[in-house]
Amino acid sequence: MIAIASESGDAEAVPRHVAVIMDGNGRWARSRALPRHAGHKAGIKPVRMMVESCAQSGVEVLTLFAFSSENWRRPPEEVNALMRLFIEALRREVAELYRNGIRLRFIGQLDGLGPELNRAISEAVSKTRDNARMELVLAVAYGGRWDLAGAARKLAREVEAGELRVDQIDEARFEAALETAPLPPVDLLIRSGGEQRISNFLLWDLAYSELYFSDALWPDFTQTQLNAAFEFYAKRQRRFGRTAEQIEVQTFSHGVP
Ligand code: FPP
Repeated sequence: MIAIASESGDAEAVPRHVAVIMDGNGRWARSRALPRHAGHKAGIKPVRMMVESCAQSGVEVLTLFAFSSENWRRPPEEVNALMRLFIEALRREVAELYRNGIRLRFIGQLDGLGPELNRAISEAVSKTRDNARMELVLAVAYGGRWDLAGAARKLAREVEAGELRVDQIDEARFEAALETAPLPPVDLLIRSGGEQRISNFLLWDLAYSELYFSDALWPDFTQTQLNAAFEFYAKRQRRFGRTAEQIEVQTFSHGVP
């Protein structure tokens, strides 16, 4: 039975949607006198752990920030190594993901990724499309501002075409125009690597997320760190704009809010 995150701070609550900024690969590699791409390669192991563990815990959606729209600014050798790593990891892991009931989705400006990665993406998405145990969303060449600008452009085109009136644009319409539209809002954001910022990740979807920052560098992020993040989440009282007293009364009077 899946315990859905409640608004009351239910100690058993499991986040429905977990999003992760996997930071610290470069520092992990540097501290071992290795090239940066060795850190990215070492980052695959915690990705596997996250997928297995989140699926087992009843998380419905796991979104990983694999490559930001700003990461194109990195040295070309590192960008190329990352693209190779994505292609190889996708081809290697897709059968296992399929067996484990994981459905894959990609968000981001995929047209700039090149034909080989795009082919691997299409194959992985189509192979896993009927799975329903957990959705794994890989954000590649993704930026929160890019997504917001895209949504604005989409709505503006509908207005221009006479299909939509400006006064019909509200939060629900805007949200429906985002790449992340089919996903539930993020309940828990985890960032490894010691920095405490959002780095242009899911700007709209993080509006009410609980934010968990871990000092562990991403390749060192293990089940222990994930458990700590889940424990942190289970203790949070999610108020969504209401007062603590309102939430307590609601919990008291309904038992389960
Ligand atoms: C940020 O660390 C990490 C990245 C830009 C790449 C993340 C990619 C992986 C972990 C590989 C995952 C693969 C799949 C298929 C999902 P950083 O390089 O900014 O680290 P630093 O802050 O220490 O320099």
